[in-house]
Amino acid sequence: METQNTERKKRIFSGVQPSGTITLGNYLGAIRNWVALQDEYDCAFAMMDMHSITVRQTPAELRKRTLELLALYIACGIDPEKCILFIQSQNSAHAELSWVLNCFTYMGELNRMTQFKDKSAKHADNINAGLFTYPVLMAADILLYQADLVPVGKDQMQHIEICRDIAQRFNAVYGNVFTIPEGLLVKSGAKIMSLQEPTKKMSKSDENPKAFISMMDDFNVIAKKIKSAVTDSEGVIEYRPDDENKAGVNNLLSIMAVMTDSTPEKVAALYEGQGYGTLKGAVAEAVVEGIRPIRAEYDRIIKDKAYLQGIYRQGAETAHRIADRTLKKVYKKVGFVID
Ligand code: TRP
Repeated sequence: METQNTERKKRIFSGVQPSGTITLGNYLGAIRNWVALQDEYDCAFAMMDMHSITVRQTPAELRKRTLELLALYIACGIDPEKCILFIQSQNSAHAELSWVLNCFTYMGELNRMTQFKDKSAKHADNINAGLFTYPVLMAADILLYQADLVPVGKDQMQHIEICRDIAQRFNAVYGNVFTIPEGLLVKSGAKIMSLQEPTKKMSKSDENPKAFISMMDDFNVIAKKIKSAVTDSEGVIEYRPDDENKAGVNNLLSIMAVMTDSTPEKVAALYEGQGYGTLKGAVAEAVVEGIRPIRAEYDRIIKDKAYLQGIYRQGAETAHRIADRTLKKVYKKVGFVID
């Protein structure tokens, strides 16, 4: 056994794609939870721009959103002094390892990925090979840093599973090259649902902007969206996670629970017997008040281009140094001439 895992803090890797606007779901389900992890773990968080181009992007928009995402990470409380913050495409090791791992991944495995099926249905005119091998690039992201834990939402668990399978397969042939990562499912807020179709995940690529809350929305727009959230005709505030008919109310209770550090059950008890209007008003206020300080920070940081550039350049350098160690090991194992 190698000793590298016992001598260092456990490492965490995660990231968000800079495609589309960042939603409340991204914040509650991902970024917010990372803040709590940064003292205890060695963290690396990236802007996954290479994953974004599996769907057609407007170049200027992608570039802009990548920096916005970085500013938002920092505004949410991710400390660049404690974590490695970098842009995926600025570390060539991701593409390089991804190629090698492609040769250790089966078509059949990739065919089973639900995200691939969903996205090909949605972008039927552009079912490209990148969309198909998306999970392989994601595996490379994680394995390059020998990550122990990968905080993700429920929808990404299948990608963590395939990453583990690929890593184990590689290790079985070449010895202990990769740390086998584990998904770290965040308790509440792991899946914030669409406000319009609450059985679907809240998605920034939803054609209906009323379905998601952007971290960049005006506060009155946020309140309006919450107040027009789809509920049900039963008129009873109760948390019933297994009842599809209650999906809208469950979602509001879950959002309120994460915003107030409570549980959906406790929030339901608090509003028992009241109307949906009252609940929505309270949720709207909690969300707006939660986002307000982040937005103030964000507005300040996004203007400081030199500061942001300093962060991502430093991040890329550190990320590259760590990733290159893994990549060199892999290249050597598979038989590439590396000197
Ligand atoms: N696929 C992830 C998502 O859409 C983003 C992502 C890419 C990621 N690479 C990763 C997340 C590596 C965690 C680790 O949310």
